[in-house]
Amino acid sequence: MKRGTGIAPHHVAIIMDGNGRWAQQRGRPRLFGHQAGARRLREIVRVCPDLGVKYLTIFAFSTENWKRTQIEIAGLMTLFRRYITLETKALVREGVRVRFIGDRIRLDEKLVWLMDELELMTADNSRVHLTIALNYGGRDEVARATRRLAQEVRANRLNPDTVNEETFAHYLDTYFLPDPDLVIRTSGEARISNFLLWQSAYAEYEFIDTLWPDFTKEVFTEIVTGYSGRERRFGAVTA
Ligand code: IPE
Ligand code: IPE
Ligand code: MG
Repeated sequence: MKRGTGIAPHHVAIIMDGNGRWAQQRGRPRLFGHQAGARRLREIVRVCPDLGVKYLTIFAFSTENWKRTQIEIAGLMTLFRRYITLETKALVREGVRVRFIGDRIRLDEKLVWLMDELELMTADNSRVHLTIALNYGGRDEVARATRRLAQEVRANRLNPDTVNEETFAHYLDTYFLPDPDLVIRTSGEARISNFLLWQSAYAEYEFIDTLWPDFTKEVFTEIVTGYSGRERRFGAVTA
């Protein structure tokens, strides 16, 4: 357990949910909510260094989200392209290292090109590590990792008897990430929807009612300091 150690969560993962409902409440199309959500993400990334959050991982599009209408999917893909294009300069300047997890095979060429470029351009940054899960599913990730691992065995490059948790984790999309300390889900749903299944084995969970477009840096700060605050109180009791 991470609580009780008196430190801020090193790695926070967020399931950004509730964009559609937020738009609906305003009588606007779902995409309007996604656009507002993208603006929120900018704000949240920026506040991480002040809070001592070194790794931020966000769920942008799941392997199940392909079940949505063509219009919504196309709108989201356009939004991802636009977000990357408009944000690259600021992310480079602000010391954010961006990486993507998920299966790129189903994403369009132009988007994948932009993702690669953003990863490359921010590769020397280390102030904040932003990981964006795009066409990501925890089960899909485990299946793809297993496939790669099996291929290594077949090619005689890996002895199956040596496979343990550490070797397996090396084949996951998140091989470069520490496990999340805190997973936040907005919009009142208390489920993880296939997000970071392996990695969150010991994470703390925070489910909050706020819809993602209303998730301000103040709300985020409260959750993060609340996590640290509980640790500080625990410290006082043991002192
Ligand atoms: C989360 O918001 C964003 C994505 C899944 C891309 P939703 O679009 O799921 O919003 P709700 O849950 O329908 O309100
Ligand atoms: C999870 O939200 C995926 C993302 C936030 C990208 P969903 O809205 O797709 O999840 P369900 O369908 O409510 O489980
Ligand atoms: Mg949702």
